[in-house]
Amino acid sequence: MLDTILNHRSIRKYKSDSIDEKILEETLIAGTRASTTGNMQVYSMVVTKDESIRKQLWECHFKQEMVLQAPVHITFCADFNRFNKWCRQRKAVPGYDNYLSFFTAAIDALLVAQNVCLAAEKNGLGICYLGTATYNARRIIDILRLPKGVVPVAAVVVGYPDEEPGLTDRLPLDGVVHYERYRDYSPGDIDRIYAEKEALAQTHELLEINQKETLAQIFTDNRYKKQDNIHFSREFLDVIKEQGFMNNE
Ligand SMILES: Cc1cc2nc3c(=O)[nH]c(=O)nc-3n(C[C@H](O)[C@H](O)[C@H](O)COP(=O)(O)O)c2cc1C
Repeated sequence: MLDTILNHRSIRKYKSDSIDEKILEETLIAGTRASTTGNMQVYSMVVTKDESIRKQLWECHFKQEMVLQAPVHITFCADFNRFNKWCRQRKAVPGYDNYLSFFTAAIDALLVAQNVCLAAEKNGLGICYLGTATYNARRIIDILRLPKGVVPVAAVVVGYPDEEPGLTDRLPLDGVVHYERYRDYSPGDIDRIYAEKEALAQTHELLEINQKETLAQIFTDNRYKKQDNIHFSREFLDVIKEQGFMNNE
């Protein structure tokens, strides 16, 4: 398992080969074995193979080519719908229409998603997460017909890899781990922790292409811009509210 984890790389090019039903089922079962809050299992996985639905999802995911290529698309949802129904059918009054409950269900869904990804990789499949699941949540809700109480929080494409990318860089362990208590970063720590990443040939290429002075500027000015973050935050907060998770009074 550790081998699988340490060799993880996102795959963005896929063969059209379909995934054997047994392998897919085993992968999904691995998802269900994740820890969940109080074992409430307040998540759902929507597995989409149908080409026409995948094409609609592709539009939501900023037309990323891999969405059309990979034979399986899984949308991981925070889901209190099923649990609420169970409560009501058993004379229990659910109190899960608030933000904390959304966050709880989102945690469950993400833990399940990562188990699915690791199991898929263990079975020779490739995966790539799609952050766009939260950007265009409302459209995904419409396409997948998600009822109230259900919000997509992550999506992954799954299929057989048609590329062999290298491992991507990581910050050094001592840059991300704190022992006993949090030790805040001095300017020198920041220089040291990001030094390797900043020295990569790929970083120099990016700076050249984007005509930027620093790698951080590529994140702030190009990839994850403040105005986009605000726009998608507002959209997502509206979606959470529409799906019945903002009764915080
Ligand atoms: C929540 C999340 C959303 C992501 N969204 C996208 C995406 O929309 N498109 C993409 O190509 N990669 C996406 N990725 C993959 C990351 O870019 C990738 O994990 C990161 O660059 C590290 O590379 P690695 O996974 O190959 O180690 C996403 C990853 C996560 C965890």
